[in-house]
Parts: sequence; structure tokens; C-alpha cells
Amino acid sequence: MRNQLYIDGEWRDGAGGERFTVNDPATGDGIADVAAGTPDDAVLACDVADRAQRSWAAVAPREKSEVLRRCWSTLIDHADELANLIVAEHGKPLADARGEIAYSAEFFRWNAEEAVRIHGSLGTSPNGANRILVHHPPVGVVVMVTPWNFPAAMITRKLAPALAAGNGVVVKPPRETPLTALRIAELLTGAGVPEGLVNVVPTLTSGAWFDAAVDHRAVRMVSFTGSTEVGRTLLRRCADRVLKSVMELGGNAPFIVFDDADLEAAVEGAMVAKMRHSAETCTAANRFLVEAAVAEEFSARLAAAMAEVKVGNGFDDGVTCGPMINAGAVETIDELVGAAVRAGAHVALGGNAIDGPGHFYEPTVLGGVAPDSPIAHAEIFGPVAPIIPFNDHDAMVDMANDTEMGLTGYVYTEDLAKGLAVAERIQAGMIGLNRGAVSDPAAPFGGMKQSGLGREGASEGIYEFCETQYIATNW
Ligand code: SIN
Repeated sequence: MRNQLYIDGEWRDGAGGERFTVNDPATGDGIADVAAGTPDDAVLACDVADRAQRSWAAVAPREKSEVLRRCWSTLIDHADELANLIVAEHGKPLADARGEIAYSAEFFRWNAEEAVRIHGSLGTSPNGANRILVHHPPVGVVVMVTPWNFPAAMITRKLAPALAAGNGVVVKPPRETPLTALRIAELLTGAGVPEGLVNVVPTLTSGAWFDAAVDHRAVRMVSFTGSTEVGRTLLRRCADRVLKSVMELGGNAPFIVFDDADLEAAVEGAMVAKMRHSAETCTAANRFLVEAAVAEEFSARLAAAMAEVKVGNGFDDGVTCGPMINAGAVETIDELVGAAVRAGAHVALGGNAIDGPGHFYEPTVLGGVAPDSPIAHAEIFGPVAPIIPFNDHDAMVDMANDTEMGLTGYVYTEDLAKGLAVAERIQAGMIGLNRGAVSDPAAPFGGMKQSGLGREGASEGIYEFCETQYIATNW
């Protein structure tokens, strides 16, 4: 298990000599002691990334593409080892962890294909005076701040396009799940990523670490995935140096079920949208808006499906929902459920924290939730499905949009025209229409409103890591 900082292709302790413990959320036990990086370590990593980036930017696109392709196959070859690390530090079920590695690796395969297609354009100025030549150089050094819910995929979704576009990178993984990040960086070096191009510096002092990195003269961009609250703070800091910023922030996805929906398919989609990766995703269905005529039946069917969820240690056979990341997460979920019940919701299933060891919550379905209940306005990040019945379609759309978040939405109906029309009215960057999953390396992932800025994945994702330069010329 790698447990030091990874800078310039070498393992080293933090400048301050401090270490911290990574805990297994299924047991609460410590599983590793990891070196804690200081602001000086962040600066060193930025220096190194700057040097490595200058050479990498000059490497031919085909060669970059082949390195990325080898990163894909290396991650696939190490899928079992990486999946085990994810379960140990995050807790998600082993099958989900394996799925995460396939998803993570795919960002490299997709971007290997995109690396040779970073196209500019050629135009003529309207008065005919000159040509307008547009091209897309890399931004330079990118600082990536990544979350614990996908210890691998939320790194590779940024890293693969950043490398394809010719950048150098410094990653600050979360203190909850640094082990997967460190091992991935080492594997990428083995796959041919030049030493120093990808540096991973865990820390205990995120604020000071980030300040030092943002002030480094070579850093030109920050890419962050995490809460809207932290995103706002990082954006303010990025403003000091006018850094390019891509922000993948919180969600509050409505999952809309019309009375003409195929309810079996809707429940199947709901289980995916709610429960994948232990219900700890930003894309998770957060509010189930169900047409009143089918609300009771949908609620009963969803409760039956949720009752089949097996909660436990992600390494155990048959487990489909692991622990929450820590005790604080369980407390937050429990408070939201309690407030919803006090406001009149009825518990169709679950509704309680599970006694320790570990940090578990019962799969929960709440019926008749009031639209103004706190649970309809906060990101739950846990296995709780609040159901809000609706009658009027316009009022339902208003309710779906009554949030500052706009990451994902889901719509279930057998009427495609109605589904598309409603999808267009939902203020969210990604809509699943009769689909419970939207994540795909080939699709632009990102949010509207306070759910974020910019996109990851697809060809949009690669251009986020590029500058645009135009040359006025003639011949
Ligand atoms: C997230 O929760 O931030 C990402 C979810 C996904 O990629 O599916």
C-alpha cells in the first residue's frame, strides 16, 4: 500500500513529517498511515509539474494518445487490486468498486481517441483583411481537488483529458481516500506517463495547501469536484489569480414519474439513480416527484425494492450498499429524515441509523414528503428516497426547479414527446429520460446553476484543459 506523497515519480514524506490515518468506514478501524503534505510540498509539486509539462506539451498527439491508451489497459490489468483499495478506504460494495475502475479507465481510452483530434479553425475576417487562425494550446499546470465518493473515477475524469491536452497536474486527493489516488499515479508512470507530470499530494491542511498551489506562478487552472459550499470558497480564491476553473458541485436531482410511466422500469431506474455507489453520488435522485395517481403504487414498489438492499461491509458477498463515509454523514442523513417525518412524511421503510461499528444507515423510503421539507432542499448523500406526490404538471416543473442546484434530473413516461418537453424544462445539465444512469465518458458531465461550471467528458471535457489562441495573419 503506497502511503507517501508522490512527487516527480518518487515517494517522499511531507516536509513537516506529519502523518494521518485512513479509516475503513465499515469498521471505523485505521487501515493506513499516510504522509501529510504541507504547502511547501504543494509548491514543490507545482514546480515539478511545470517542468514536466513543458516537455509533454511538445510530444506529438499520437504519442500522447498511445500513452493514454496504455494507461487504460494498465488500470484494467490492475482492476482487482484497485477495486480492493477502493472498498477498503471508501466502503462501497466490491461490484461497484470494480465498476468504478472500468469507468475510470474508460476516461483514458476515450481521451486517447480525443488526443489526436484537438482541432482549431481557420476563417477570414469579414473585411477580407486577414485570416483568423485558431488553435488550442494546453493551459499549463492544473491543480485538481477531488472527492472521496469516487476515489478513482473523479481523478481520471480530470486527469485523462488534462494529459491529452498537454498539461501537467498536481492532485490533492481527499483525506478519506488517498490510497487509490497514490497507487493510480504510480501505475500511470509505469504506463509511460513521464515522471513529474502527475503528482499526488495528500494533506491535512487543505486550505493552506490550496492557497500555496493557487499562488504558484505556473498554475493556470483549478478543477474541483465536491460540494457547492467548498466550490464557492475555491472559486473566490481562484479569482485572486484569475484562474480558469472547472467546478463539478452538488446536486439535488428530481426523479419525475408520470402516471403513464412503466412503473417496473421506473423503479428499476430509481434504484440505480438512488443507490449506485452506496447512494453517495452527486447525480443521485434526491427527490421523487410522482404523479398522485401512481404515487402509492410507486412508493410500495420502491419500498419493496429497497427492502431487498443488503447493507454491510463492501467486501461481503451479496452486499449492495456499503457504509456512509463517516459518522457525521450518518448524523446528517438522520437529521434530514427526522425533520421530514416531523413535517408529516410517513416512513414506508427504514428511517434509522444502524448501530456501529461502522457508519451505516437503513435503506429508507419516505411517503407524502412536504415539498418545503429540508430533505427536499438538501443533498442527502445517503440511501433515503423521499416521495413527493404531484397533480399539476406545471407546478411539478416549478417544484423540480425550486433549487439552486442543477446537476441531474430523471423523467419517466411512456410518452416520448412529453418526456422530451419536460426534460427541456428541467434546469439541469444532465437528464435521464427513462434511464436511471447518465454518467458516461463520452457525454458532457456537468451542472447548471450552482451545480457547477464547465463540463467533464466528451470532447467538451478536453477543451476545458486548453487555451484558445488566435493568430491574425495573411499570405
Ligand atoms: C459524482 O458523484 O460526482 C459523480 C457521479 C458519476 O460520475 O456518476
